[in-house]
Amino acid sequence: MIDFQEVINEIYSDLKTTKDKGTVASYIPELEKQSASSFGIYLKHLGGKDYHAGDWDVAFSIQSISKVLALSKAITFENKNLWQRVDVEPSGNPFNHLSLLEQENGIPRNPLINAGAIVIADILVTHLKNPKEDFLNYVREITGDQTIDFNLKVVASEKRTGFNNYAAANLLKAYNNLDNDVEEVLDFYFHQCAIEMSCKQLANAFYLFTHRGECINKTKHLTLNQVKRINAIMLTCGFYDEAGEFAFEVGLPGKSGVGGGIVALLPNDFVIVTWAPGLNEKGNSLIGMQALEQFTTKTKRSIF
Ligand code: DON
Repeated sequence: MIDFQEVINEIYSDLKTTKDKGTVASYIPELEKQSASSFGIYLKHLGGKDYHAGDWDVAFSIQSISKVLALSKAITFENKNLWQRVDVEPSGNPFNHLSLLEQENGIPRNPLINAGAIVIADILVTHLKNPKEDFLNYVREITGDQTIDFNLKVVASEKRTGFNNYAAANLLKAYNNLDNDVEEVLDFYFHQCAIEMSCKQLANAFYLFTHRGECINKTKHLTLNQVKRINAIMLTCGFYDEAGEFAFEVGLPGKSGVGGGIVALLPNDFVIVTWAPGLNEKGNSLIGMQALEQFTTKTKRSIF
């Protein structure tokens, strides 16, 4: 029997004292206020047993992790049409890369790079009556937690500096792959990225993808086929130009965000979330990736 709490403690104390903790994101100025020494780990098994260490209960900006939650809602509205508008191939490029979008006629490589997530945001803006409020309520519902909210300072900060996302949205619009106004879609996208959640809340939300589409309060939100697709996309595209490295070192579907969070999961077994705001040069949490590599190596649990 593996003592999961002991494994988590070992990883935590090993990495907490590491000197190189990476660099906190600064291109969204509000995120630069985070401390590179924050570090939390939270593990939740199917059935509910959980283990944690450090700052697992502190809410942080989930950023790109929200793209998976947005996709999981959009897929329930447009399961077929969605895949005409966004592809499912890894990009091998940074999350904000633009030139492929132009080469490929406005069809983003996948729903987890920024351009793809903006198309998903467009679908949600089309289908949700009060898009921001309804999406927040969906996240609250699957997490079983009504306290989750947007950080409006992060929204404003990203709006001021999100030139790359404005460029992506305008290109999408030029290629007729955006139905709603650029401003409206980006306002929604910046809000979804600015949701704040703790490691524990994220583990509860992503329970859906390890538990065959059923959330922690037992409501079925997704079919098995939809869950398969979302987990496959996390595995192949969840870490941008580091997706191969993450599969190679960690061996789990997962998603990172520039707020320093990483969620990874083993279907039918567990969800694990790390938060450490210092990023590597590819924009993924440096310590978080190391913690997850240690976890799957020590526990010998991965999809492979
Ligand atoms: O659009 C952006 O650039 C951010 N709101 C999200 C980027 C992000 O988290 C990339 N993930 N590692």
